[in-house]
Parts: sequence; C-alpha cells; structure tokens
Amino acid sequence: MQHMLLYASDISHTFDYKLFNAVDLSLEVKNSIAIVGRSGSGKSTLLHNLSTFLKPTSGSVKLFGEDVYTLDESKIEKIRRFKLGMIFQNHYLFRGMRARTNIELASMLSDSFIDQKVLDTLEIANLLEQKTSELSGGQQQRISIARVLAKRPKLIFADEPTGNLDKQSAHLVMDVLLEAVKENNGAMIIVTHDEEIAQRCERVYMLSDKKLELVS
Ligand SMILES: Nc1ncnc2c1ncn2[C@@H]1O[C@H](COP(=O)(O)OP(=O)(O)O)[C@@H](O)[C@H]1O
Ligand SMILES: [Mg+2]
Repeated sequence: MQHMLLYASDISHTFDYKLFNAVDLSLEVKNSIAIVGRSGSGKSTLLHNLSTFLKPTSGSVKLFGEDVYTLDESKIEKIRRFKLGMIFQNHYLFRGMRARTNIELASMLSDSFIDQKVLDTLEIANLLEQKTSELSGGQQQRISIARVLAKRPKLIFADEPTGNLDKQSAHLVMDVLLEAVKENNGAMIIVTHDEEIAQRCERVYMLSDKKLELVS
C-alpha cells in the first residue's frame, strides 16, 4: 500500500438522492485516469470526495497513506498546499493581478518555481504581463493550469480542464498535464466530456447508474 498515492474504498455520496455507490479507485505513481459520464452523474462530486474537499457519505479516502477525512484541518491544509493540484471547472485566478503574479503566487506558496517549459507548451509565455481580466476564457484557463503546475503537485485533480478550449489547445493542456505527472512522479485524475482527451489517459472510467466502471 505504500506506493499508493490515492486509495479510495467503498465510497458513496448522497445529496438529495444517492449519486454513486461502492466506488473503489486507486492511483499509483505515474498513473493517469479519466472519468467520463453524463452531466449530473456525480463526477464533480466524486472528484471533491477524492481530493479532501468533500467527505463522502460513506467509505474512506487515503492520500499518501493517510485517511484524509480523519485528519485535522491543519494537516489537510498542508496536503492541499504541498501535494495536491486542483484544476476546478471554474478556474480561479486573482482578477486584478497580472497573469505572472497569479502563477508566482502559487509557486511561492509551496517553495517551487515557474517552469518555462510549461509556459511555452501552453503558449502563454507572452501573456504574463497582462491583467487576467484582459485575457480570454481559454487563456485564463491555461494560466490557471500553469498556476497549479507551478507547485509541482504529486496528485493532480482536474475537472473538465479542457472545457473552454479549442481542440489544439486542449491537447497542449494534456501534454503539460501528462508531462507533469511523469516529472513529479505523480498521478492524475481528470473529468472530461471529450472522448479523445480521455483516451490519452492510461485508464478510462465511466460513472453511470451509480457505479464507476472501467471502460478502457
Ligand atoms: N452541494 C450540493 N448540494 C446538493 N446537491 C448537489 C451539490 N453538488 C451537486 N449536487 C447535485 O448532485 C448531482 C451531481 O452533480 P455533479 O457532481 O456536479 O455532477 P457532474 O459533475 O457529473 O455533472 C446534481 O444533481 C447536482 O445538482
Ligand atoms: Mg461536473
């Protein structure tokens, strides 16, 4: 179990009704997985369950060998800050700041540094001096991805990370995410609607009929 970065066992989540049941999932170093499924099936909820943000109704989630929902808030905060990279569906940048400051802030918080290669691959190196409010949705999305990668997370959780992007940019995003997994000796879970993007991951799961099933 020591080599497991994530080990979720028998988790379920219920809001007004049961979203899913008996979900087991594990991630080892260098694994990348995609989760697909219809809108409303619970993909975002599951991602929150797996990433310390939402305690599942039942079951356990271990990250780096620790049962996260039994830890105190300061320990969880430390894991989030130093080991997790969250790419949310609605990307969160600080609006008044330059793109560069947004990225630097993330790397400062965790003692890392900006990786020029990431900026180049995402084609955002020339946008750094602009205010984020002056950038397009797709440009902001790529800045926010660079921001997350600046802290070199061990585990990346990405909810529709290519949602606002054209096909070519979407593949660039996948290039940097998969490269980060390799370089950090980490792992990644992404939620996506895009079949082609999903297929670039090692494993693809589908959330449907309240179950998470391996499809390829
Ligand atoms: N915080 C919440 N409180 C109540 N219901 C929620 C909450 N978050 C999500 N839901 C409901 O759970 C269902 C699954 O949502 P979600 O996990 O966002 O699905 P997906 O990401 O697959 O579209 C939806 O019906 C949604 O309205
Ligand atoms: Mg969602």
